[in-house]
Amino acid sequence: MVVTVTSMKGGVGKTTIAAMLARYLADREDLEIVVIDMDPQGGASSILLGGQIDPPTLVDVLRLEVEGIPSGELMSEAARRSRHDERIFVVPGDADLADLANANPPLRSLNYSLESATLPDNTIVIIDTGTHPSLVAIGIVAADIVLIPVMLSQQTARPTINTLKVALHNHQRKGALIPIGIGNANWEARELERWQRKLRASEALIAMGFEVLPGLPYSRIILRGRWRYGKFPKRFESTMDGICQFIFQGSTEEAEAREDVPLLMISEDEKVMREDGRSAELAEALQYPAEAAHGA
Ligand SMILES: Nc1ncnc2c1ncn2[C@@H]1O[C@H](COP(=O)(O)OP(=O)(O)OP(=O)(O)O)[C@@H](O)[C@H]1O
Ligand SMILES: [Mg+2]
Repeated sequence: MVVTVTSMKGGVGKTTIAAMLARYLADREDLEIVVIDMDPQGGASSILLGGQIDPPTLVDVLRLEVEGIPSGELMSEAARRSRHDERIFVVPGDADLADLANANPPLRSLNYSLESATLPDNTIVIIDTGTHPSLVAIGIVAADIVLIPVMLSQQTARPTINTLKVALHNHQRKGALIPIGIGNANWEARELERWQRKLRASEALIAMGFEVLPGLPYSRIILRGRWRYGKFPKRFESTMDGICQFIFQGSTEEAEAREDVPLLMISEDEKVMREDGRSAELAEALQYPAEAAHGA
């Protein structure tokens, strides 16, 4: 199963959610965890591996795919054990990913690579895409499940909508928004409740098969990076449980069998209109001026 944590908005908690989920799942002995760091900044790699990272990295893997050479074997070679959890393997990213992304690699590069890699059936692959649009798209296309962290700010709305649009365009059928950093102030809890109500009632999200999961609380433990070592903090268990339930509930076949969103079955002209309608609706749910969404 491939879970992609993504958003074109920077600093919303993608790496935190990806690495925390890896740690949380690693406690389950029936699962193998592979984290793929697709962010040129290599945040997940430095959290989970630290220090100097030698080749091969994900860039070498994806470069093979660009040349049309099966890369599964190199993917396995590039995966190395996390320094904190011996049951987590990491395929590290590095700065060269940005150049690769700018050269428009094939949308399905990572799918091909994962298909040719020999991973045990009980493997959960967790992808952290970073914010680069072409890497976001590659990560979404490779995913069985898409997780989009959102922080409560107006600046988050537009890139979040754009990320949802990539999912919509690529027929992604199962995903969720995860509110991040909630509860630092009373107004946040209230605001979150309002967002959750609106988002949960959003027909666009429902039609896409997207849900809103319980949020990740604001915490100094996260800011200071203390959750990375030792026993997994109790404080985040309910958030992680919510994500796990979502991941393991139902099957992805069920999600695929869900009726196609009408957007994908109507004429080109209408398609644009329809999409704008959905963007506007999402924008409204995220309290973003609808006019701005039309220009996005
Ligand atoms: N719930 C939280 N409470 C407090 N701090 C948080 C919380 N979630 C994330 N942070 C902090 O916010 C910052 C951004 O989080 P993170 O790096 O996970 O975001 P990102 O989406 O991966 O960013 P980028 O787009 O740069 O890769 C980090 O310093 C992280 O420790
Ligand atoms: Mg990150």
